[in-house]
Amino acid sequence: MTEIIVSAKTKLADIIMQDKRALVLFPRFGIELGVGNRSVKQECINKGIDTDFFLLMVNVFLNKNYFPGGKLKKLDVDMLLRYLENSHQYYLEEKIPYLEQLIEEFKKRVDHPATKQLERFFMQYITEVKEHLAYEDQTAFPYVAALSEQVKSSKADISDIDYHIGVFEERHDNIEEKLSDLKALLIQHFPPHNDRYIRIRLLNELMDFEEDLINHARIEDKVLIPIVEQLEKKIG
Ligand SMILES: [Fe+2]
Repeated sequence: MTEIIVSAKTKLADIIMQDKRALVLFPRFGIELGVGNRSVKQECINKGIDTDFFLLMVNVFLNKNYFPGGKLKKLDVDMLLRYLENSHQYYLEEKIPYLEQLIEEFKKRVDHPATKQLERFFMQYITEVKEHLAYEDQTAFPYVAALSEQVKSSKADISDIDYHIGVFEERHDNIEEKLSDLKALLIQHFPPHNDRYIRIRLLNELMDFEEDLINHARIEDKVLIPIVEQLEKKIG
């Protein structure tokens, strides 16, 4: 896939045509399909989205090698947190339930003892993902919000919170291992059993989800963590 660097003039339709990952990204900003010929700038004005913020998110999400550098200084931390929380909500309320439905359908259609193991691997994977999201939602993000508040107003006091963003970095390990087990089962070990289409669909969706999570984690690593480190230095 050729990487596309998005600018304010880029047409939304061109971004989607070149990179289908934009399909999951745009709704997080309230941008729905039916984009006509509108450019990023036009749509951001229409929807009241901060254009610089949108460009930063899109470019980090779509490009592995994009370095936001100086652009981070101007970024609004609360906006970033809202975006990250929205993404988590999408995973929890839409994507994961959809994957669960697919597993159910697979179990119904494929009458084979190995479906038990498939379900077990799947549950382990989903539990891992949910724990990870819950940790960020309940511990890391509130900390960042309080930190940003303190820097802005010097009122909120976080001195009694025993936490720093380095912990987040360490914990931001991968949930990839559990998914590898699941993929290996579906690709290598599960015997063929009248399941071709549903198995391909399930694998496709799992791989899409995997990629989405990887890109999402890149925003946390390359945007959230550097910003928070700057804020932490400010309150020293
Ligand atoms: Fe996250």
